Amino acid sequence: MSAASSGLEGVIVAETVLSDVDGERGELWLRGEPIERLAQQHGFESALGLLTTGRLPEPSDGRVATGLARGRSLAHGRISRLGDALEQRDAMDALRAGVAHFGEGDLGPRDDAAAVLAGVVATLAAGWARRQRGETLPEPDPGAGHADDVMRLLGASPGTAGRALDAYWVAVIDHGLNASTFAARVVASTGSDLISAVTAAIGALKGPLHGGAPGPVLDMLDAIGSEGDAEAWLARELAAGRRIMGMGHRIYRVRDPRALVLEQALHRYRQELGPGAAAVVQRLELARHVEQVAGRLLAERHPSRALAANVEFYTAVLLEAIDVPRALFSAMFAASRVVGWCAHVAEQRATGRLIRPASRYVGSRSPALAAG
Ligand code: COA
Repeated sequence: MSAASSGLEGVIVAETVLSDVDGERGELWLRGEPIERLAQQHGFESALGLLTTGRLPEPSDGRVATGLARGRSLAHGRISRLGDALEQRDAMDALRAGVAHFGEGDLGPRDDAAAVLAGVVATLAAGWARRQRGETLPEPDPGAGHADDVMRLLGASPGTAGRALDAYWVAVIDHGLNASTFAARVVASTGSDLISAVTAAIGALKGPLHGGAPGPVLDMLDAIGSEGDAEAWLARELAAGRRIMGMGHRIYRVRDPRALVLEQALHRYRQELGPGAAAVVQRLELARHVEQVAGRLLAERHPSRALAANVEFYTAVLLEAIDVPRALFSAMFAASRVVGWCAHVAEQRATGRLIRPASRYVGSRSPALAAG
């Protein structure tokens, strides 16, 4: 039997038309559209339509917006019955428990499930944040844009900040066979239901090596404090054998293209904000400096392995800038990536094939029973 591939690097277990990640060139395409164009010219609702149907929706097509609004209202209507689910200390635990309260049948027609679930996840996340603050979640507004309404549900400002959240959601909506998407596909391959696949994916996304990194990235920026202290702090972390959060990627050997999409969204945000953006500018400058020093130190330690900034690095700066609470960063990631999970579940279901790899037994055996 061949040797084990513990991280499944380079092992292809699915064919997909959803997203194409080119790790050597640093490119990400969704259904053939470059991620940069989708973020700048289209937005989250169009990206959702594109990913789930294969076509960019016409501006007059309100189906995605209706599905998202239905999800927000569905979650809002359930929140009082979720009991302990939203009392969890960790937002991702609350999300996993909250989503598990729904059945696939609650979501309506299968074609709308991704939009409805995206509405549900974002609203549950806002409901968790509100409950942590001892506040009640306001009624969603079905006529508002999704990102704007979620900002309002969170108690943050819509408008300029809503546009930045929208661009973030485009950047992270789907990304090949990442760990959470793989988890969703494995569950779907057994013939299980969509909610089971999504709750498994939430569990995978929670981990710090996947979607749990942006909170720690901010902790790192806080701990570093000023540009002059970056090098000594980073060198100490590396010497202690700890990883620099927001750096490195399994697929990318150059800078993650989503880091640029987020930097551009931050740039637009700070231009729209004008003089009020001083704190954002300061944070962004510190982040850029830390990225540059971390990249240099990592290159010295790992000359044969390129370790550059990944999506989580600027996710942290962007979500902080628009006043999303740090504890909610991974849940905001899930509010977009759930669309990718749903699209992959549909693709996996169409194959009808069980994903069942093999393991190599390396333990001992008792002597075989004597024959006869
Ligand atoms: N900081 C310090 N060292 C790092 C590193 C980081 N962020 N990322 C990788 N390395 C080192 C590893 O320690 C390993 O060193 P070694 O060969 O001396 O043992 C080497 O680079 C290769 O790393 P490996 O764990 O094989 O890479 P991977 O493909 O499994 O890891 C990540 C990919 C994302 C898990 C990894 O880069 C990481 O942990 N990054 C920090 C967490 C993060 O930002 N996650 C969000 C991902 S989008």
